[in-house]
Amino acid sequence: MTPKKQLTRVSFFFLLLAAFSFSQISYAQTESAEADTTASAPEETASASASDGEIPTGDANIGAGEELFKGNCAACHKIDQKLVGPALAGVQDRAPSIDWIVSFVQNSQKVIATGDEYAVNLYNEYNQTQMTAFPQFTRDDVLNILGYIKQQAEAAPAETAAVAGAEGADGAVASEPAISSAYLNAIMIGLIIVLALILVVLILITTVLRRYLLQKETVGDEDREIIEQSVSLSKVFKSPTFIFLATFIFAAVAFKVVINELFAVGVQIDYTPTQPIAFSHKLHAGQYEIDCQYCHTGVRKSKNANIPSPNICMNCHSAILTESAEIQKIYAAVEQNRPIEWVRVHNLPDLAYFNHSQHVNVGNIECQTCHGEIQEMEVVGQAKLLTMGWCIDCHRNTDVNTKGNEYYDKLVELHSEVSEDGMKVEDIGGLECSKCHY
Ligand code: HEC
Ligand code: HEC
Ligand code: HEC
Ligand code: HEC
Ligand code: HEC
Ligand code: HEC
Repeated sequence: MTPKKQLTRVSFFFLLLAAFSFSQISYAQTESAEADTTASAPEETASASASDGEIPTGDANIGAGEELFKGNCAACHKIDQKLVGPALAGVQDRAPSIDWIVSFVQNSQKVIATGDEYAVNLYNEYNQTQMTAFPQFTRDDVLNILGYIKQQAEAAPAETAAVAGAEGADGAVASEPAISSAYLNAIMIGLIIVLALILVVLILITTVLRRYLLQKETVGDEDREIIEQSVSLSKVFKSPTFIFLATFIFAAVAFKVVINELFAVGVQIDYTPTQPIAFSHKLHAGQYEIDCQYCHTGVRKSKNANIPSPNICMNCHSAILTESAEIQKIYAAVEQNRPIEWVRVHNLPDLAYFNHSQHVNVGNIECQTCHGEIQEMEVVGQAKLLTMGWCIDCHRNTDVNTKGNEYYDKLVELHSEVSEDGMKVEDIGGLECSKCHY
């Protein structure tokens, strides 16, 4: 190949490179444009207004409303944040009328069936999630709930103003992580391709230059030697650096495989078995802020935290994402009246006794102290060692939570006579073998 031909080839590669970068940029712009439209569309529907003169403000009404809200609505609604249903702050201003709200709460499906535009749009916006019907609620009950919502919304004006006004912004926030992760992947692949192209271009340039120089007759012997010096692959493979690197990488991979195999047997950190249903704590406990205790019902009152039965999932999933393959697995379990076979993650040997209520309720210890940031885990893994040393360590270093617990008054008094330090778990017998071993 002549140098001229090769130069043409080089410029062709540069052209390709430029075209590729341009396509990356325009891809990014379409993405953000899409995000913009989702953010602004729903706002237009939120302009209708209703008189809210009827909403009660008395303490008794608000108290009654609070009880009804917490008992019936809180599983799906928050005041200032989207949960399963919309944030309810300011609903009296955006819904068509107070009467509309009353009918919707009593039986939302009936309102939607009439073809009411606001209701149908809302229903579609929430992926056709059916809201539970509350036919037993009187008009006054609903007004009391609205009173409570209004009072709560006014208690936190800054946050609610933002949410009530821009309902759609919520949606944009929710979809943002997906966009950015897809986008990151694209950037990574793009970078790799660009690097590969640059490598090819550099190799071509050196080849062209070398040929050009060799054709010139004025080059001296010494220079000629340098130019002709070629980087041979076999030399690279034989170099000590390469051998060292290769051995190191091989050893590291082998070590990791062996460790994984060994630990697959027993208890260890980061044990994340594949579960029969792709249940995500990040989604439920993190994004939707469902209280841990809503599912782990025993955690404050018994030894065991409990894994929720399919019925608890059905409280919501009888209406949410009913078409999803993962959710169908819940239906199958309920129909066949069998439990879902979750794989156990945390497991102490039989010889040890551990009680949740003592730690969570009496000791006032956060779940996260022992289980890590569960609300950020897509798949639950074990965060702490759970060895005897781990239990003992904490018992040596943690003060007993004695506040408001009469049971400890006498002990605290006795303890303060002999020591100036706080009363540790150790001091109430937390290191005695028989407390943890049957
Ligand atoms: C099973 C979950 C669920 C429960 C429980 C629930 N809702 Fe809803 N709610 C929704 C969903 C989802 C929507 C959005 C509309 C739709 O999909 O039907 C909604 C919409 C609403 C709306 C209209 C909001 C707007 O932006 O205009 C009001 C008002 C409302 N709910 C009030 C209540 C009240 C009051 C309670 C308790 C008595 C309650 N909801 C209980 C899921 C629920
Ligand atoms: C919507 C229901 C739900 C909520 C809310 C929830 N969990 Fe869970 N949790 C489950 C289910 C189902 C499993 C079993 C499947 C799994 O391991 O992912 C589980 C498993 C666990 C495990 C592992 C159990 C084992 O096998 O050793 C821990 C620890 C845990 N949850 C802690 C928490 C904490 C802490 C919170 C609150 C931040 C929380 N969970 C909120 C449903 C829930
Ligand atoms: C308080 C309401 C609530 C409860 C209880 C609940 N979920 Fe969910 N779940 C949701 C919401 C909300 C979503 C997300 C819906 C969305 O993304 O549109 C969801 C999504 C899911 C998904 C993702 C499905 C998919 O295809 O993307 C799975 C799987 C799931 N839940 C399993 C469970 C299991 C198992 C339980 C019982 C241990 C449970 N859920 C209990 C509200 C709940
Ligand atoms: C002091 C540490 C500690 C705290 C705090 C703690 N856990 Fe646990 N948890 C454990 C240990 C240890 C196990 C293993 C128990 C066993 O195998 O008997 C466990 C097991 C579990 C399990 C598996 C099922 C079971 O009952 O054994 C769940 C679910 C769970 N914890 C949820 C929670 C939740 C939710 C909280 C917070 C409300 C919490 N835990 C707080 C240490 C703790
Ligand atoms: C993060 C700190 C922490 C960890 C980790 C911890 N504990 Fe505890 N534990 C406490 C506290 C605080 C108390 C005191 C609760 C109270 O006031 O009764 C306690 C009390 C106890 C008691 C009752 C002691 C008594 O004298 O009444 C037992 C039994 C116990 N823990 C077992 C365990 C076991 C088993 C483990 C390990 C699997 C463990 N704990 C891990 C903090 C911890
Ligand atoms: C705070 C709770 C606690 C106290 C106090 C405690 N242990 Fe343990 N012990 C445990 C736990 C939890 C395990 C299981 C650890 C594991 O699986 O790695 C265990 C395991 C053991 C084992 C089995 C070890 C093994 O490798 O299987 C022996 C033996 C033991 N303990 C003896 C004792 C003796 C003796 C005492 C009193 C001096 C004592 N323990 C006090 C929590 C405790």
